[in-house]
Amino acid sequence: MNVFVTGGAGYIGSVCVEELLDAGHAVTVFDNLSEGHRSAVDGRATFVQGDFADRTLIHETLGRVRPEAVIHFAASALVGESMTNPSKYFRNNVASGVNLLDATVAAGVRKFVFSSTCATYGPPDRVPMDESLPQRPINPYGESKLMFEKVLGWYREIHGLQFVAFRYFNAAGAGRQFGEHHRVETHLIPNVLAVALGKKPHCEIFGTDYPTPDGTCIRDYIHIADLAQAHMLALDPSKSGFFNLGNGEGFSVRQVIDVCERVSGRKIPTIERPRRAGDPPRLVASAQKAFSELGWKPRFPKLEDIVSTAWNWHTRHPDGYPD
Ligand code: UFG
Repeated sequence: MNVFVTGGAGYIGSVCVEELLDAGHAVTVFDNLSEGHRSAVDGRATFVQGDFADRTLIHETLGRVRPEAVIHFAASALVGESMTNPSKYFRNNVASGVNLLDATVAAGVRKFVFSSTCATYGPPDRVPMDESLPQRPINPYGESKLMFEKVLGWYREIHGLQFVAFRYFNAAGAGRQFGEHHRVETHLIPNVLAVALGKKPHCEIFGTDYPTPDGTCIRDYIHIADLAQAHMLALDPSKSGFFNLGNGEGFSVRQVIDVCERVSGRKIPTIERPRRAGDPPRLVASAQKAFSELGWKPRFPKLEDIVSTAWNWHTRHPDGYPD
């Protein structure tokens, strides 16, 4: 297929682009490089630097490329930042996203695949979390993704745009070539591994008084290659709807740090800090729907394996990407 990928220079997008190309698809990457890296774009893809805040540019680009499918990764995606700068989240994730959707419809694209998030649920009434849970986000990031999910529903009803929306749990690990390099790193695993690499003196634990067994937040970590695989399955024209993507197992912040110590063989000093605003205590997926309806099956379900791929990438790229 001819596939148009927004955010294909970013962490999850770069790995998905590589897998799409390996599977024989033709790929155009559209990225403004605000978070992504030019050198994270697979050399076999066509690259367009741009921002879909620019309505004319995205219309022109999609009109020229005429893809069969759009995979939309590009977004602002930091829970903590969204609590201090909500405007950025509603502009980038909702308003600019509508430009992309309008251009998608105008270009006659048949399929849209959207990167949503478990942050759309907010603190759940029960875990593991399936798709029937009410969506009550507690941060602007989750709210902005939920708003876009609703826009998608209306575009399906009014314009007939078929879509798959994936609610990712915590993306982690690295692919064969590409890994995690955010210019400002806020995520747990890369921050902990930066300590193991000797680049930081200690890692911070945000909140030790949550209602969890060891007092720290619990998350469901999912390998990015497994996320990428789900996107490939979503390209099947018969697939549509909302799907959670996670491994169904939760790990606390302290457990993640222990696994990082084991994998790296290095001691990782920690400092306890107050809670970070906007963090739900426990998020763990039920991905039964993705298993049964998409035939999706994670290849790297074990946290040790996920962290090992990340450690391998970071040791080979201690300073991340050059650009
Ligand atoms: N944490 C620390 N120390 C750190 C970094 C994080 O204790 O240095 C804690 C956080 O407070 C949180 C947990 O580790 O409790 C995980 O934090 P991350 O920042 O790694 O991930 P989040 O769960 O906040 O958010 C990520 C993505 C979102 C996505 C969400 C779904 O950034 O895009 O997972 O849970 F929506």
